[in-house]
Amino acid sequence: MTSIFNKYDNDKGESGDDLKLTPETFVKLRNTIYRLCGIYYNENKIQLVESRIKKRIELLDFDSFEEYLLLISSINGREELVYLFDAITINETYFFRAEYQFAAVEKIIIPDLIKNNPEKKNIRIWSAATSSGEEAYTLAMLVKNKFNILYPDVNFEIFASDISDKMLKKAKEGIYSEYSVRNLPGELFANYFDKYEDKFKISDDIINMVNFSNFNLYDKHNYDKLENFDIVFCSNVLMYFDLNAKAKVVSNIYNKINDNGFLFIGYAESLHSINKDFTLVHFPKAMAYKK
Ligand SMILES: C[S@@+](CC[C@H](N)C(=O)[O-])C[C@H]1O[C@@H](n2cnc3c(N)ncnc32)[C@H](O)[C@@H]1O
Repeated sequence: MTSIFNKYDNDKGESGDDLKLTPETFVKLRNTIYRLCGIYYNENKIQLVESRIKKRIELLDFDSFEEYLLLISSINGREELVYLFDAITINETYFFRAEYQFAAVEKIIIPDLIKNNPEKKNIRIWSAATSSGEEAYTLAMLVKNKFNILYPDVNFEIFASDISDKMLKKAKEGIYSEYSVRNLPGELFANYFDKYEDKFKISDDIINMVNFSNFNLYDKHNYDKLENFDIVFCSNVLMYFDLNAKAKVVSNIYNKINDNGFLFIGYAESLHSINKDFTLVHFPKAMAYKK
């Protein structure tokens, strides 16, 4: 495809057929990505961005990064954003990744919530950057294996979202590698997984407990659709945002959490100098932010 930018030849490698992301175009692309989803790339991430987006440019048969930038910045580029988000996100996750946080939910938070609010018949949990679903299904297994038995008259709603459609598709399929299930307690693995070729498939009972949807945490308009949650996991995603984006996302999540509800973030993340509304609370080997 011939590009209007060809005459500047600013994204072409020396051979002319090798796509290169110049520092100038990187900055424009980085700023556009930031505006769209809050993910912020430093200058040292130029090669990462180049290699991830290059595949889309080749598939679209475009000639330059400038041409791609033009597409994603325009109204016509709306549909491409789905592929852009798939390409640029980092989706590492596995079952029971934050095992002490899940232990806090299982042993302290939910029992206390029910004990302190005997009238409460609906508990709402959100896995807000769920990737391929392991975090949400970990919570669903705890509910099914324990709370549905202990508290049969309490309804648990588990909502899971991500910006990447590719990951959400994978989550709904529920098929996982050995790497993903390696941390699972034996009982849960035995109860809820079947061998599926060289992988493992989670049971439909668990899949059906989780309501998946695409949700861009950085888009404030999305939050209008949400109702209040008792527990939110927003783990290992804030680290990809800058301070300003983190503060906005956390404040939007804060408004969607019930009083006395909890927010969990990744072990390597902190809300220090980002949000003063939550209270930091400690559990054995885990922390959470309480509203
Ligand atoms: C590293 S994974 C974390 C998965 C899981 N929460 C965990 O801790 O194991 C980060 C996820 O955040 C998602 N993500 C990145 N930016 C996002 C945004 N603006 N809105 C929603 N999800 C986003 C990515 O698609 C990715 O699947």
